[in-house]
This record gives sequence, C-alpha cells and structure tokens, in this order.
Amino acid sequence: MKTKKSYIILGAIVLFGLIQFIRPERNLQTNPSRYDVFHKTSTDAKVVSLVQGACYDCHSNRTTYPWYASVAPVSWVVNQGVVNGKKKLNFSEWILYPQDRRLHKLDEIAEVLEQSEMPPKPYQWLHKNAVLSPENTQLILNWVKEKKAEEEVMLH
Ligand code: HEC
Repeated sequence: MKTKKSYIILGAIVLFGLIQFIRPERNLQTNPSRYDVFHKTSTDAKVVSLVQGACYDCHSNRTTYPWYASVAPVSWVVNQGVVNGKKKLNFSEWILYPQDRRLHKLDEIAEVLEQSEMPPKPYQWLHKNAVLSPENTQLILNWVKEKKAEEEVMLH
C-alpha cells in the first residue's frame, strides 16, 4: 500500500517536471508599436496608464508575466488569455484596423466596462492594480466617447 502511494506521488512529480517542457511562446514585442492606440497620443496620462494596466496583458503585443506564469499548467492558461484576447482586440495594432472596426471595437469596450466583464475576474484576483474603481471606469468610458467622436469626424 505504502509503495503504491509513493509511486503515485513520484509519478505526479515526474509528470509535473515533464510538462514544464511545453512552453508557449511569450508575448514580448520589445519595440513600442507605432500602430498602438496611444501612439503619439494626447490622451491624459492617467487614462493611458489605466488602460495599459488593466487591459494590455491580454490585448497588446507585450504581456508583463508574473513569475508563476512560467510554471505549467498556469503558463498554458495565461497563454490562452493572451491568444484569445488579442484575437478580439489588440491595442498594439489599433491603427491597422479599418475604421468601421475601430468604431465597433470602441462600442464593445464600452459594453464590457459597463457590464464589468473586463478585466476577467480571476485576473483581477491576482492583479489588484487592474481592479478598476467606478471613477476609473468612468475615465476610460469618457475616453472611449472622445475617441469615437474623433473617429466619426474622420469618417465624414
Ligand atoms: C486576463 C486577460 C484579459 C484582460 C486583462 C482583459 N481581457 Fe478583454 N478579453 C480577454 C479574452 C480572453 C477575450 C475573448 C473572450 C471570448 O472570446 O469570449 C476578451 C475579449 C474582450 C473584448 C471583446 C468582447 C466581445 O464581446 O467579443 C473586449 C472589448 C475586451 N476584451 C476589452 C477589454 C478591456 C477594455 C480590458 C481592460 C479594462 C480587458 N479586455 C482586459 C482577456 C482579457
């Protein structure tokens, strides 16, 4: 009985060691993107840092990884967030989106903020600085509104 249990524990340790070799590619573009939504922006620095702090880990080309994000299977979960998040919205490639898509994305951003859907809850538990107070959410919503007005002017 005793040996069976130790085999199971040993097996689990070996398996944990082996899965460490499956390492997702890291999202670490080094140069700041010239297609970024805040490239050469006149937006208030506070708003920029709020959006970057709460959204950029999954919606940009550069993620700040905590140490535990190197450990499988956590690294796989983090990578899924980055891959799926960037598919929906990538602030680093904002200027490459056609204008109608930008307008649509601004609507979606307002919607997820109003419904407190983003940043995802589990992410907020681990990143206290990404928790947006109602005041800070409002600041981002104001920015979205200004940005929409700006885009609409360009459209006409
Ligand atoms: C931990 C990673 C993570 C963070 C941080 C994060 N998101 Fe997301 N976001 C995702 C993922 C993953 C999806 C795709 C969800 C899906 O496909 O259902 C997504 C989807 C979205 C969408 C598209 C929603 C839709 O209806 O398709 C918007 C807009 C969005 N996020 C905005 C934001 C904003 C704004 C922030 C910051 C306030 C933020 N996200 C922070 C991971 C994240």
